[in-house]
Amino acid sequence: MIHVLFVCLGNICRSPMAEAVFRHQVEQAGLSRQISVDSCGLGGWHAGEPPHQGTRKILTAKGVSHDTLRARQIVQQDFDQFDYIVCMDEENLAGLKRLAPNAQHISRLMDHAANTGEANVEDPYYTGRFEYVYDLVEAGCQGLLAKICAEHGLSGTAK
Ligand code: 4NP
Repeated sequence: MIHVLFVCLGNICRSPMAEAVFRHQVEQAGLSRQISVDSCGLGGWHAGEPPHQGTRKILTAKGVSHDTLRARQIVQQDFDQFDYIVCMDEENLAGLKRLAPNAQHISRLMDHAANTGEANVEDPYYTGRFEYVYDLVEAGCQGLLAKICAEHGLSGTAK
């Protein structure tokens, strides 16, 4: 099993959106038995809460299920248990590097997206632009899935 963890600051807007979108793509590709998905936040302020209503609303509109998502804070074991740790912005990246200075498996979601012109996924908790963030997240997840498939010799089934 390949374990993928998405990380943002609060785990209520961006990383749960990425978890839901990526899981949806993995299911569509018929790879649920090969790839597992989770998300967490660097902060614990919202632990136990469902995603922000802006995230829930756009996921529902796109037909992506999100009912079981609950926020949690990152723990040190996450760095050992996950094969890909994928964060949203440079602030998250700096926070993760402080927790695990030698980790080689941390990236930003936009590292995997072609042609968005963005290095970071902006925080809709502050900008309110959940639709734009969804588009970035979808593009990043698509690229990430292609990369993981290439690295592990996986080929998804038809959608
Ligand atoms: P997220 O957005 O990192 O995309 O979940 C945030 C949610 C809550 C807070 C910050 C960012 N907060 O400070 O409570």
